[in-house]
Amino acid sequence: MAGVQGSTLAVAVSEAGGLGSLPCAMLSLDAMRVALDAILAGTTRPFNVNFFCHTPPVPHLEREWAWRNALRPYYDELGIDVGSVPPVDARTPFSHEAADVLADIKPSVVSFHFGLPPADLLQRVRSWGAKILASATTVDEARWLEARGVDAIIAQGLEAGGHRGIFLSEDLTTQVGTFALVPQIVGAVRVPVVAAGGIADAAGVAAAMALGAAGAQIGTAYLLCPEATTSAVHRAALAGDAARHTALTNVFTGRPARGIVNRLVREIGPISGIAPQFPLAFAAVLPLRARAEALGTGDFSPLWAGQNASGCKEVPAAELTRELGQRSGS
Ligand SMILES: Cc1cc2nc3c(=O)[nH]c(=O)nc-3n(C[C@H](O)[C@H](O)[C@H](O)COP(=O)(O)O)c2cc1C
Repeated sequence: MAGVQGSTLAVAVSEAGGLGSLPCAMLSLDAMRVALDAILAGTTRPFNVNFFCHTPPVPHLEREWAWRNALRPYYDELGIDVGSVPPVDARTPFSHEAADVLADIKPSVVSFHFGLPPADLLQRVRSWGAKILASATTVDEARWLEARGVDAIIAQGLEAGGHRGIFLSEDLTTQVGTFALVPQIVGAVRVPVVAAGGIADAAGVAAAMALGAAGAQIGTAYLLCPEATTSAVHRAALAGDAARHTALTNVFTGRPARGIVNRLVREIGPISGIAPQFPLAFAAVLPLRARAEALGTGDFSPLWAGQNASGCKEVPAAELTRELGQRSGS
């Protein structure tokens, strides 16, 4: 879960018998190296390293200015000079440079969101024996991934927190809930399917497995664990009534992602036609977020969360992992 965790959560989950993940989408190569070293120092168990693999867009000046203009009332309100808002390339796709870092470590599992990297890059990952996982949000995407040789498919249902992994289309009407998606993908591919989205307890894990899933990927439930780096405003929103109101929104990054509805989502979104393409929308929101968080509000923060926050608990990740695995016997 990029932005809300690093190596500590990954180690805790792996040590407790789950497959901990290190999200690398928002890490520099140096930060990635440091985090991977910390994982290797913390566990000898398998772990997953996760990357985005979008095609970086060409910045569109007019769209950038239209976006900044739409946000101008907020800059004015918070005393931010619109001219001072720098472009930030906050989410970089998997690259040969990242593969160089991984090649020294050869993690046993690597997962991708938003499709797959180019074939030569994928081949590098495969060459050191890593199992490759990738997210599918439709049966078509699952078939596409299987045809390119992934070892397992993460079926990401509409309930899931964070970015939708959708990559073959931009049509959100194709997106369905986890318990509709999992059995359809299980029926369409031969590789194992991991269910993701809205699973928050052991009964949910068992239900996903009853539908043919080989495992479950859980994000939101871990957000209040002490090992997560979830911000104070995000934790407060997750722990309160606000968490019952989530939406798919593109106002934070340019790509649809599920988060708790806050002021920016309500007033500019949830889906804005003028938000620059992923991940460019992020740069203009960043100073608003920073200023608002300093004032103690999450009005402009991406409060990523899935529809089912009922499993969020302030307990150590090891305890949560063991609880989630109870009925499935994993
Ligand atoms: C805060 C947050 C950040 C996320 N970041 C990533 C990410 O960096 N890479 C990724 O593949 N999925 C990411 N996801 C999606 C999760 O991998 C997973 O699909 C989702 O959390 C499952 O649904 P749930 O949140 O209802 O448990 C994120 C989810 C959340 C809640």
